[in-house]
Amino acid sequence: MSDTQPTYRCFHPLIVNAYTSVHQWIETSVQDANGYKSLTYSNLKRKLQETDWKHIAFQYYALFPAHYFKAAYTLDSVIGEEQIATWLRHRQKVCILDMGCGAGAASAAFLEIVIRLKEQGKLTNEVNILFIGVDPSHRAIGLYNQTMGNLKSSTANLVNLNFKHVIEGFPNAINPINRYLKNELLSSQIPCLSNVLVMQLNVISPFSQIYRSCQANLEELRALGVDVDESTTEDDVGLGTAEAQAYKQLIESVPVDVMHIVTIGTKNMEKQVQEGTNSEVTLEERIKEMANTLQQIVGNRHTINQINSGNHTVYFENPPNCYWRDQKNVVEYNTEFYVDFQTVYSADRKEDQEWNEVISLDNLRLAWARARNNLLRESLCDETELRLFEVELNAKLQDLQEQLSAYADDVARIEEQIAYKFPKNVNVTRPRGLSRIEEEILSVAIVQRLGNKVSQLRGSSTPVKVNVCSPFGLGGERSKHEDVWGHIRSF
Ligand SMILES: C[S@@+](CC[C@H](N)C(=O)[O-])C[C@H]1O[C@@H](n2cnc3c(N)ncnc32)[C@H](O)[C@@H]1O
Repeated sequence: MSDTQPTYRCFHPLIVNAYTSVHQWIETSVQDANGYKSLTYSNLKRKLQETDWKHIAFQYYALFPAHYFKAAYTLDSVIGEEQIATWLRHRQKVCILDMGCGAGAASAAFLEIVIRLKEQGKLTNEVNILFIGVDPSHRAIGLYNQTMGNLKSSTANLVNLNFKHVIEGFPNAINPINRYLKNELLSSQIPCLSNVLVMQLNVISPFSQIYRSCQANLEELRALGVDVDESTTEDDVGLGTAEAQAYKQLIESVPVDVMHIVTIGTKNMEKQVQEGTNSEVTLEERIKEMANTLQQIVGNRHTINQINSGNHTVYFENPPNCYWRDQKNVVEYNTEFYVDFQTVYSADRKEDQEWNEVISLDNLRLAWARARNNLLRESLCDETELRLFEVELNAKLQDLQEQLSAYADDVARIEEQIAYKFPKNVNVTRPRGLSRIEEEILSVAIVQRLGNKVSQLRGSSTPVKVNVCSPFGLGGERSKHEDVWGHIRSF
């Protein structure tokens, strides 16, 4: 048995401030919540179902920190800090959908990881994040807006943060979510959102209750001899059907390249799922059922990778202004929870063969060898620069691939100009973030894959002239990534 002491997580100082100031706001501005700190923790089951201000504020007081730490643990230990940094590194915008957001524990936990990456110098580029909080309770949205508004101003020097809310339950909230995401695409002028993270933190119980009550309604009609199976339940493959259909719709209509869905269920809320029924089904089983439904509905067209599913324990310190610390004097605590993490890769992106072939690591590696030779033939070639690139070759190529996948500003859009335009000299600035070597690799990579589809190239050192103007004009369907190609034209 290991006697290593667990590390107890605590709030980042900016989160401490936000948590405290939302309490101050409740105490000074929300009269109906008066006395929320004097409620007792008993009969939590009932308390969680009360939606008046006093109970909503009490849930914030008693549960926000524990929920937050579960999300924070999941983000850096299950998904991984490096993975998150990858989404943020070249992204125009990362979108976080906080389903059943309550006061925003999941959104705040995501923001904390970004703050830490920034503070530790692991993320040096500009970071843009859009948070969308979805909850049918307008009071929960009230707390969400207070939390996010506070964090937006306190992190303004680190992150470009925007947040929106939808006062409606999921999946009914699909239309406004769709609109917000489409607006993001429009304003960023990119063809697809490259990464959308959906966080379902402690919301499976309400999803499950809604599903069970729909089933009970249908059962009642069946018992009365009404045929409801023909139309209503046609596509019903179990718990999570409506949610999976809504996610599929978002992926296809926004469109989204990669959607990550993380679901967290709290062990000590297990009974919530069973309330009012004879069911002994646990939250863990419900989450697995939902994951299975997603596989059937979304996985029949798109590719789903199940990255993680299992129980975890998080150790943390209750912050000041939290029920457990204020009233019970409990500082260090730990709690168990279940996590499911799946990634959905859009079939539309996968079907865009030409784009995938150009940005494949094998193609970029081969292009590197050719680009290197081309550059070495130049009279004023900086060999040191080439050697430095070579030392970290795999990482550099992966970085370039990420940039291309992300339609990074510096690759895909420079005011309608090709990002790797040539010639360059000391007086001409290069596009942000793209080195001359990368430009050369990119042009060779395109020529390699598209070869005779390309009629003119203007490479820096190759005598061949290739124009990457219309690689899709050859009878095939115009690609979704056409806009990116569109930007990779000039001259
Ligand atoms: C236990 S709270 C969790 C809040 C927050 N995610 C957290 O972990 O602190 C569940 C939340 O889900 C919301 N909710 C209930 N039904 C929902 C639905 N169909 N879609 C989205 N949220 C829902 C409730 O209003 C409540 O705020």
